[in-house]
Amino acid sequence: MEQKLKELEMKALEEVKAASGLKELNQVRVSYLGKKGPITEVLRGMGKLSAEERPKMGALANMIRETITKAIENKNVELENEAVAKKLEAETIDVTLPGRPVSTGNRHPLTKIIEEIEDLFIGMGYKVAEGPEVEHDYYNFEALNLPKGHPARDMQDSFYITEEILMRTHTSPVQARTMEKHEGKGPVKIICPGKVYRRDNDDATHSHQFMQIEGLVVDENITMGDLKGTLEVFAKKIFGADREIRLRPSFFPFTEPSVEMDISCKICRGNGCRVCKQTGWIEVLGAGMVHPNVLEMAGFDSKKYTGFAFGMGPDRIAMLKYGIDDIRHFYTNDIRFLKQFAVQE
Ligand code: DAH
Repeated sequence: MEQKLKELEMKALEEVKAASGLKELNQVRVSYLGKKGPITEVLRGMGKLSAEERPKMGALANMIRETITKAIENKNVELENEAVAKKLEAETIDVTLPGRPVSTGNRHPLTKIIEEIEDLFIGMGYKVAEGPEVEHDYYNFEALNLPKGHPARDMQDSFYITEEILMRTHTSPVQARTMEKHEGKGPVKIICPGKVYRRDNDDATHSHQFMQIEGLVVDENITMGDLKGTLEVFAKKIFGADREIRLRPSFFPFTEPSVEMDISCKICRGNGCRVCKQTGWIEVLGAGMVHPNVLEMAGFDSKKYTGFAFGMGPDRIAMLKYGIDDIRHFYTNDIRFLKQFAVQE
């Protein structure tokens, strides 16, 4: 019996040693130490032994059990360490590898110029107003002194949705909407940036959808001098302190008198070149004193209140400021074009 037990011990220890994984090791444990294992089996024959030998065999069996248990425990630790080492090796991170570049975006040039203009006017006490892009004929035209059949409506070829609803052709309807909200009480001081739509064939200087920024100030004693001073601050801030402005008489149905503002050409400094078409001046925006009809229709007493308004195209301003030669660059979103504006962020 002693011999048998010793043999079992040797065999078990060999199997423990040979186990190549935790699962296999567990199988060895179950098969040798389990209740139905071979050690228990051998001990069943103890009845045939003398009373003297019995406790000896019992002690030997226990010792062997312990030896095998220990061996399994040690092997277990060994295998676990091996597994961790393997995992660590597989997951090794080479901290010296250069990282993958994360491409960051930058603001669209039109967003930049609009925010710059917004900041300037907010600094002068203006609020930023908004209005719908799908607009009533009333606000887009009639409330701006452009009744149905008025010839000046042709200047703004429109996308009509129904007889009375259209895509706004300018941001001027926000003037009428804002004044209505003020219920005849000044002061009103807003700018309104937004998208506008016209039935134009797209080319280098035309787009069927572009941006405008509308400005409106209504209060008692507002004069043309206020308008000129405001536009001068705007022009010098956006285009540079060395630029001059000039106001030319013009016509808009919603202002009287109406003007167009030019800035002196940066390239030729007023002497005439290709960019300014030999005039020395570049047209930037339209403006004027709010027409009394427009004030009255929006509920303001035109004897008490006067106001000025202006409308500019951020597309055009960005083109002038950054030297962009085609308005379509803003809307075709070629990443190479857009990335050029990242450097100035
Ligand atoms: N709404 C005009 C346009 O789209 C621009 C404009 C001109 C707006 C004069 C004004 C203004 O407020 O006073 O052509």
